[in-house]
Amino acid sequence: PKPVRVALLGCGTVGTEVVRLLREQATDLAARVGAPVELTGIGVRRPNKHRGQVPAELLTTDAAALVDSDVDVVVEVIGGIEPARTLLVTALRAGKSVVTANKALLAEHGAELFAAADASGADLYFEAAVAGAIPLLRPLRESLAGDRITRVMGIVNGTTNYILSAMDSTGAGYAETLEEASRLGYAEADPTADVDGYDAASKAAILASLAFHTRVTAADVHREGIASVTAADIAAAKAIDRTVKLLAICERVTHADGRESVSARVHPAMIPRSHPLAGVGGAFNAVFVEADAAGQLMFYGRGAGGAPTASAVLGDLVAAARNRVVAGRGPRESAYADLPAQPMGQV
Ligand code: NDP
Ligand code: HSE
Repeated sequence: PKPVRVALLGCGTVGTEVVRLLREQATDLAARVGAPVELTGIGVRRPNKHRGQVPAELLTTDAAALVDSDVDVVVEVIGGIEPARTLLVTALRAGKSVVTANKALLAEHGAELFAAADASGADLYFEAAVAGAIPLLRPLRESLAGDRITRVMGIVNGTTNYILSAMDSTGAGYAETLEEASRLGYAEADPTADVDGYDAASKAAILASLAFHTRVTAADVHREGIASVTAADIAAAKAIDRTVKLLAICERVTHADGRESVSARVHPAMIPRSHPLAGVGGAFNAVFVEADAAGQLMFYGRGAGGAPTASAVLGDLVAAARNRVVAGRGPRESAYADLPAQPMGQV
């Protein structure tokens, strides 16, 4: 069968692991997809940095030309808004499937990406964008599509959970733990996105949009980070048998007059040590989903880091590649529910 041709944009913490898995598992992936998966190019900024790690002949600084070339799937792990936005909209409009880990882009320009995908019938997969390796978005988009979700709540940022867990268990300092989280590949290129809650707010916007079939952007999410959480706060929590966690909480709100809206917020919270979320340490994430028929579900696993994130990217790539082979299409993301986001601050 004709190979499925893949362009990779970005080869940092996540991209390097994507290349490794693609190479190590080429035979298995071909069997699962029904055709060989061929990596045709890797878009980066500084090719010299990557020589020796990935095949040099695949490296290019011209990501736009790579997207325009004869490829079936574009995998984006660059991050940030531009040039990722333009590259992905171009790919989708041209009918190429897109796999992305870019929560910031999805939370700000999701509507534009979904419209471009719908216009051409292309796939848009983004499991890695929320909670790293944990299969969470696929259950929301597919497995729970027949249910009515009322709440999605949990820990969705690995870096801040790593910092808070270390402060709680070893009394480690904030700055040194943040540095360690960056070194381990958990933090964003600009770690203020993590500590100030922007990353978790983007993820909350994506979760709320999928769970409630509406459009919530990062700007709709009430956001507080962990920068102001002190060692004294952690000690005070400990003294009353509690711990501090950065939570993302997305809820369907029913008002007295029957109207419904969506509330999405991110903030540190003191939770009892007996709560299941209290035991979530390091860069792990855990998310509870509540739905009318399903009841309560809990998703837990590695929320950040190169290999766990690449696992989610590869899962999406297999799904997108299979669809190319059988001329099928994955889930669409039409926002049909008219659920306004509550103004920020009204939580
Ligand atoms: P890195 O900063 O490690 O890697 C970014 C890569 O993109 C680098 O290879 C860089 O090239 C390349 N790049 C940057 N700008 C451009 C450009 N203009 N044109 C072409 N290539 C460019 O980021 P991560 O791998 O950590 O993250 C990538 C994405 O995955 C982000 O959206 C992030 O939010 C998301 N993500 C990350 C997770 C993690 O744990 N790290 C987890 C879940 C999602 P060069 O190396 O040459 O500079
Ligand atoms: N910086 C993010 C985090 C990466 O720490 O959770 C995973 O999305």
